[in-house]
Amino acid sequence: MNEPISAPRLPPEAAEHFDIGATPDSLPRISRLFEELGDICRVYAPSRQSHTWLSNHPDDIKRVLVSNHRNYTKGIGFDRVRILLGNGIVTSDGELWKRQRYMMQPMFHRRVLTQFGRMIDEANDRFLAGWAAQAARGGTINLTNDMSALALEVILRSLFGADLDFLTAQPGGNPFDIFTDESARDLKFAYRFRQLTKLIQQLIERRRGEPPESHFDFLGMLLAARDRETGAGMTDREMIDEVTTLIVAGHETTANTLNCAWYLLSQHPAVEARMHAEIDAMPEEAAPGLARMEELKYTKCIIDETLRLYPPVWVFSRRAIAADVLSGYELPAGADLLLSPYHLHRHPAYWKDPEGFHPERFDAAHEAERPRFAYMPFSAGPRHCIGETFSIYEMLIHLSKVGRRYRLRLEHDGPVEFDAQVNLRTRHPLQMRLEPR
Ligand code: HEM
Repeated sequence: MNEPISAPRLPPEAAEHFDIGATPDSLPRISRLFEELGDICRVYAPSRQSHTWLSNHPDDIKRVLVSNHRNYTKGIGFDRVRILLGNGIVTSDGELWKRQRYMMQPMFHRRVLTQFGRMIDEANDRFLAGWAAQAARGGTINLTNDMSALALEVILRSLFGADLDFLTAQPGGNPFDIFTDESARDLKFAYRFRQLTKLIQQLIERRRGEPPESHFDFLGMLLAARDRETGAGMTDREMIDEVTTLIVAGHETTANTLNCAWYLLSQHPAVEARMHAEIDAMPEEAAPGLARMEELKYTKCIIDETLRLYPPVWVFSRRAIAADVLSGYELPAGADLLLSPYHLHRHPAYWKDPEGFHPERFDAAHEAERPRFAYMPFSAGPRHCIGETFSIYEMLIHLSKVGRRYRLRLEHDGPVEFDAQVNLRTRHPLQMRLEPR
């Protein structure tokens, strides 16, 4: 029977029903759906009693994130994040988001970020001291745990500066350990998180009584930030939400990328050798500036290629406010949509040898070959990652500092498995042997 003329054009539907995005095997299932149904499809999600749309087409990415971004809010998964992070800049939408983004954007200006160089360098020095002792004994390091601890230290120091020492020295133990412990996101976690926010509140109260210029850190900048129209500052609640948001957004993402970068380097000695040559040609500095670090062009390509293969934010969601048209199909108002950097980054129509590790595809000579909107580890458009330059800077300092001194080699044979939950990461911690260069 013919469909009525007025029926909306809908994309292919998956035969199986499942809560896509919320099941532990969502990544391989999405791979299968794109293979079987093409670049755009729908899946019925029983717990939401609605269809979730999936698109793997650069034109749709551009429409949703850039040209028609006002029509979309955050969708699936963000309600859960909101319970912890309140209305921080990652979870908020509309006018509240715009106001907070406007107030926070100057904190991530290059002129500001470059002043964090010494702090990031010193944090790496502390890790390297521990690694030197380990290397001397011929021992191995737990790279995954160390990258997590390092990235946590960097984001916490950038937020709290010297006050971090007061925050961590608490009678019940370091309250920030909840971010590195493998604890589930359960009631116990929520309780410990609440204790942490109380402590941050105390610090905010103390800081409000001090001159703003007495600290150079993100918290100081949040305290000084003013609304463009009203001139009002943030409330304590808003500030706590932004502080915890920055910790959560900036910690695991950077840690997982470094973990994967060292893994890939350990498997590709020719790439590693080229990175060493680039690093060795640059004198080491105690406070490496941002522009200086960006001269490490090949090392930056390694980071880009790592993020292509293993984007920590491997999938994210949007919800349509009004109806829209994607790939010629009519997306209804209120529909949920998933966009997957992981799948887009491995799309065979846009990437040559998509499974291979080829950092040079990101160099200037290959720029014309790279399709726009087929690469988005930091998302795109007005809601793209505010911490992109910060994290790249942090990773360049780390890779150059360690690469100058060591080769990292996997302690065990056999393929490394990956696990795609909220973030994409290695399923098991990577044990690495340090070979002094
Ligand atoms: C390799 C490291 C990182 C990756 C791959 C990454 C990825 C992303 C992605 C994909 C988004 C967009 C999510 C969405 O629209 O649903 C995002 C947003 C965000 N990221 Fe990052 N991120 C990284 C590091 C950081 C760091 C270091 C910080 C903070 C210092 C940070 C802070 C944020 C914030 C605040 C947002 C929300 C921006 C907004 O909605 O206006 N990220 N990030």
